[in-house]
Amino acid sequence: MADVTTTPAVFILLGPPGAGKGTQARMLEETFGLVQLSTGDLLRAAVAAGTEAGKQAKAVMEAGGLVSDEIVLAILKDRMADPDTKRGVILDGFPRTAGQAEALDGLLASTGQRVNSVISMEVEDAPMIARVAGRYTCAACGEGYHDAFKQPATAGVCDKCGGADFKRRADDNAETAGARLTAYHAQTAPLIAYYKGRGVLETVDAMADIASVAGAMQACVKQVLA
Ligand code: AP5
Repeated sequence: MADVTTTPAVFILLGPPGAGKGTQARMLEETFGLVQLSTGDLLRAAVAAGTEAGKQAKAVMEAGGLVSDEIVLAILKDRMADPDTKRGVILDGFPRTAGQAEALDGLLASTGQRVNSVISMEVEDAPMIARVAGRYTCAACGEGYHDAFKQPATAGVCDKCGGADFKRRADDNAETAGARLTAYHAQTAPLIAYYKGRGVLETVDAMADIASVAGAMQACVKQVLA
């Protein structure tokens, strides 16, 4: 086992769109001082900034497909080198293909790290469409909300930062969510067996309420950081 007292721990959250990867990653970040690295967020930032990578990613993301491994890897590699990742990272939405998993192994080997734990968030497909279609976030701080499952305590005011401006993602509609689920099953779900074979897989029932899922996820992380 890698010594997580001297090398940053690496956690991976695996799960289809709407499974709660982003919701739980942000909670684990606060509880354990880890850093959430969401390739979806990094790609959306590249799209918003109009970089070359962002221009290539935009149409693919809006159709619900997967951006090329080359673009995703370049973006993630840069971010993993930032000093704030010292205690450990939670990879949210990466790896998503066998090629990305192998590239991650190579990247970690070069810094004496390894994948410490992969948490597979198990859900049924159909309810994920409603989770994704009802989602919105605070435009200022990124805190996530949902029309039915998680509303701000005061309507129209972010619980976390007090912001009053909220936004919805361009790919959060029923049609694109269906394409994203298809991509997940074809290209990402096989990674569950890959990491099971490596002895690092944990599974969590992510159909439960957000607090219950958080408890199960924290137990997985504590096993590594204890
Ligand atoms: P990405 O941003 O990673 O999106 P995703 O994987 O489709 O996942 P989501 O963000 O939709 O869902 P989530 O699991 O984070 O759920 P959340 O916590 O928000 O990727 C977007 C696109 O970028 C991809 O389609 C692809 O094009 C591209 N991309 C990204 N990474 C890539 C890669 N590595 N390679 C290639 N392309 C890549 O929860 C959803 C909602 O449900 C929230 O409103 C939440 O409040 C609610 N909720 C959460 N948990 C619960 C619960 N337990 N009960 C009830 N409600 C809940």
